[in-house]
Amino acid sequence: MKPKLLRVLSGEAIEPPPIWIMRQAGRYLPEYRETRKQAGSFLDLCYNPELAAEVTLQPIRRFDLDAAILFSDILVVPDALGQKVRFEEGVGPLLEPLEETGLERLDAARAVDALKPVLGTVSRVRSGLDASKALIGFCGAPWTVATYMVAGRGTPDQGPARMKALREPDWFGQLIDLLVVASADYLVAQLRAGADAVMVFDSWAGVLDDEGFERWAIDPVRRIVAAVKAQVPGAPVIAFAKGAGARLGTYAARTGADGFGLDWTLPISAARRMVPERAALQGNLDPLRLIAGGRALDEGIDRVLGAAAGHPHIFNLGHGITPETPIAHVEQLVARVRQAR
Ligand code: CP3
Repeated sequence: MKPKLLRVLSGEAIEPPPIWIMRQAGRYLPEYRETRKQAGSFLDLCYNPELAAEVTLQPIRRFDLDAAILFSDILVVPDALGQKVRFEEGVGPLLEPLEETGLERLDAARAVDALKPVLGTVSRVRSGLDASKALIGFCGAPWTVATYMVAGRGTPDQGPARMKALREPDWFGQLIDLLVVASADYLVAQLRAGADAVMVFDSWAGVLDDEGFERWAIDPVRRIVAAVKAQVPGAPVIAFAKGAGARLGTYAARTGADGFGLDWTLPISAARRMVPERAALQGNLDPLRLIAGGRALDEGIDRVLGAAAGHPHIFNLGHGITPETPIAHVEQLVARVRQAR
């Protein structure tokens, strides 16, 4: 049976829609916290195919979601390129300063080799997953990954990378080009290892001005989509430009992805008018409604379902689930989406 998620990505409208949750494997699950303890550091978990496959499958077992997403992180790519990454408890990701690593020392050809353990996770998950469920592979979009590489950490508005792109566009362009090549190769390798679809996360696209959005958000993702589809014909791609807003139309037309992630600020009805008829929309419940639960949750779900009905739609949050989310609310979400006619 073809997974529902793949049917939607090929342009079919299905009711009730398939559902999965961004960051569905994570700290809100006690079984995740347990495996994470066993693994050691967060990156140790990402590079351990057996344990990473286990945490990938945990939310599927618990909630019977329609898709698994590879457990890894967007920042394994800079790590594999040679800019060392670590995750500090309560702080988030910390990267070695790029001036110390040196752009010329980052090696796209070596990156996919260093990411072999992650590909091992992909094949393990695919063989442990029911044929009716899709496995989504992913990478960060070059812009979002570059924001962490330049600042060495997350910042409130990724000002350091925006400034670097304005002051040294040639240097910044070289960094982006390197990430385009490494990311496309990495996604192709994930598809060959068993991923059914891939998603590109551009979580920081929304902080760019119009010109920056075209140059650093649209163009690199357009090149990645083209490279992936050239090497794996028909591979379904979901692109998520968080904060795209009114720019979603240009983004959809120019990147040529099959599905588009929506954050919770963009009305699905407005998004629908901006993208091609057969494009799938994925989203876009406010993650805070999932924490709030009760009527706030039910009303949010119904509104998303109502707005998306009749067109290709994948139910999801507008951004990742957070550690304080009660498990009972996730159960309520899945039950209500599945109850919908
Ligand atoms: O969705 C999934 O379940 C798959 C796994 C996944 C993770 N990160 C696991 C993770 C995916 C798809 C990501 C993507 C990711 N990582 C993005 C893009 C999507 C988004 O959320 O905007 C970004 C920007 C990152 C970078 C990143 N990773 C940050 C800023 C942090 C720290 C913040 C935090 O929540 O701790 C991470 C850590 C991270 N990535 C965790 C998980 C489960 C938590 C680490 C832990 O277990 O301690």
